[in-house]
Amino acid sequence: MRIVLLGAPGSGKGTQGEKLVARFGIPKVSTGDALRAAVNEGTALGKRAKVAMDAGELVANEIVIGIVDERLQQPDARKGFILDGFPRNTAQAETLDGMLQRMGSGGITHALHLHVNDEEIVSRLLERAKIEGRADDKEDVIRNRIAVYNAETAPLIAYYKAQGVAHTVDGMGSLEEIFERLAAVLTA
Ligand code: AP5
Ligand code: MG
Repeated sequence: MRIVLLGAPGSGKGTQGEKLVARFGIPKVSTGDALRAAVNEGTALGKRAKVAMDAGELVANEIVIGIVDERLQQPDARKGFILDGFPRNTAQAETLDGMLQRMGSGGITHALHLHVNDEEIVSRLLERAKIEGRADDKEDVIRNRIAVYNAETAPLIAYYKAQGVAHTVDGMGSLEEIFERLAAVLTA
């Protein structure tokens, strides 16, 4: 399985992605986690990324594509993978398709779209802000992340629909309920 998790900020990509790793035994690649690690390490790449991340804007395509390309070359990704937060625009999706073709693996098998309404997103992320203090979990930045998602990333649902691999799953409810909905799609 070569899975893409699509969904607005706070829709549960990271949370459900971890549960899918545990159930299906394939690695998860999160560009957001990789970028936050680079920011914490203070690398040149991290410094470049931080400006965009703090504003809720997308980081440059070449940076995130480099992260994913390197990670998918690792041997453990050969049996499949879960991408969390990548691709985020059409250019990234097309580059990913090209990458998979060059690697000789098939294309994306499932693009799972977690659907959650905006008020729930804002409330989840403001709750997380109290606990984790992520720099981009501030209400104005959250609203911008939602707008960027709607403009840049939501069109990928149609992109993957055209490939016959898109599935929209209700992302509201308990973690277990949502996980079972995703697992049902993957085992269908
Ligand atoms: P990224 O790290 O990908 O953040 P995001 O898309 O904004 O999403 P989140 O991580 O906030 O939410 P999530 O969907 O993972 O939900 P989670 O499971 O955590 O990206 C951050 C930034 O990096 C971007 O803005 C951009 O700048 C840059 N970036 C990353 N990838 C990029 C790319 N490809 N191209 C360009 N730039 C890129 O859940 C959220 C919260 O809700 C948690 O506290 C969780 O505990 C809680 N929760 C989860 N499920 C439920 C539930 N069912 N009920 C109640 N609470 C729940
Ligand atoms: Mg996440």
